[in-house]
Amino acid sequence: MLQKLWEILHESKLEVEEILKTAKEGEVLQAHLVHGSIEDFNSCNLLYHGDNISAMVDLLNRGYKGKLDLIYIDPPFYTMNNYIKRVEVELNGERKVIEYKAYSDIWNSFEEYLKMLSIRLILMKELMSSRGSIYVHVDFRTVHYLKVIMDEIFGVDNFINEIIWSYKSGGTSNRYFSRKHDSILFYSKTKDYIFNPVKEKSYNRQYKAYRFKGVEEFQDELGWYTMVNSKDVWQIDMVGRSSKERVGYETQKPEKLLEKIILASSNENSIVGDFFSGSGTTLSVAHRLGRQWIGSDMSNSSLLTIKKRMSYANYLEFNFENHENFGDLILEIKNRVNNNTNTLKLDIKGYKVHVESLNFTKKNRLLVEEVLYKDSLVLVDYIAIIRLKDNFLIYEDFITKDKTRIDTDFEIHFNDENLGLIAIDIFGNKIFKELKLLVNINK
Ligand SMILES: C[S@@+](CC[C@H](N)C(=O)[O-])C[C@H]1O[C@@H](n2cnc3c(N)ncnc32)[C@H](O)[C@@H]1O
Repeated sequence: MLQKLWEILHESKLEVEEILKTAKEGEVLQAHLVHGSIEDFNSCNLLYHGDNISAMVDLLNRGYKGKLDLIYIDPPFYTMNNYIKRVEVELNGERKVIEYKAYSDIWNSFEEYLKMLSIRLILMKELMSSRGSIYVHVDFRTVHYLKVIMDEIFGVDNFINEIIWSYKSGGTSNRYFSRKHDSILFYSKTKDYIFNPVKEKSYNRQYKAYRFKGVEEFQDELGWYTMVNSKDVWQIDMVGRSSKERVGYETQKPEKLLEKIILASSNENSIVGDFFSGSGTTLSVAHRLGRQWIGSDMSNSSLLTIKKRMSYANYLEFNFENHENFGDLILEIKNRVNNNTNTLKLDIKGYKVHVESLNFTKKNRLLVEEVLYKDSLVLVDYIAIIRLKDNFLIYEDFITKDKTRIDTDFEIHFNDENLGLIAIDIFGNKIFKELKLLVNINK
């Protein structure tokens, strides 16, 4: 196997050289920047939709080499499973759960998987700053092979920790010890890496007070403890079924885990990257902790989940190049002109989605067809009106935990006749309509 690993590494290095040689600035890449302004290094919250190789090459082309202080990735684990996104809709007062594919973790061979990651790890190293660190979150299936691969890419001397994330979850075995931990490999780029020790509780023996001179002790419902620098085994709960954090994306990681990593290995304003963003846990925590962030994912449902989760002002700047509509909104539009102010009254009557274009099982497809027939608008997750010349956001509305449907009847005022309507359905399909085509605006 060792021989195979060297071959994988050798081929990956050659492939990266080739990728970097051929990808010139301005070339159309397969990842689209869907949020953020890339030129602004000082406030660069960026989100890419597409394969992360393209996202990283684009960043390197645009001057992000050596700019990221922290990269955390939680790639597919080589489980040979497909993962789903669950969405709930309220149909005539009844909650229904629709499931569809979020991403695939099925590979032709282990070599294919390892090469996929090796190529990306080499690119990540290029993006890391001289004070940077990388955390690679995997499990028992791949960690030992990745340790060898990462030793080679980042240097064995830059290996800092194998962090064990230990959790409780359902399921045990009579044939082996129940597997209840993941491994996170932590490497730095150089010896001068950022590290802010994070404290944790350490309970005294028998939970009693020691009362040592000069040692500060605390007490909670379990008993007496001191605060010590964190160890490399972390007991953190998974995102449970009833957890407030839960966004319905399988393999979503807990915010507490990311909080610990981001606090330890970045400073305020550091750029934090996660190129397998999933539901956007890293991006969301980084944002909350005052870090800049860069994310990418190739799954439609991931992107929608991230956008919903990152519900901060003006976060949306869509890129509509190569856009394909998989659904349509049925609209009634009324346009009034009054003292130079255009008023647009929109009444959204219904939603159509091309069910064939989505990856449903038969049961879920029938359920979607039922919803489309009975109350199609519960499938619309997000709606926005933008000014096309500069993508300025004029109106937006989206479903949140407390709001189960978008407003279908609203009025906006505008001064420019070129407007666009964007809708995103709960599956992640984007619909774009140029309103100019539908309404005759008299200015
Ligand atoms: C395990 S999930 C990440 C979960 C995430 N840490 C969270 O807390 O939600 C892995 C993600 O990697 C994405 N992915 C897999 N291969 C990719 C690639 N080549 N480029 C971009 N994203 C990829 C998948 O779509 C999936 O969303």
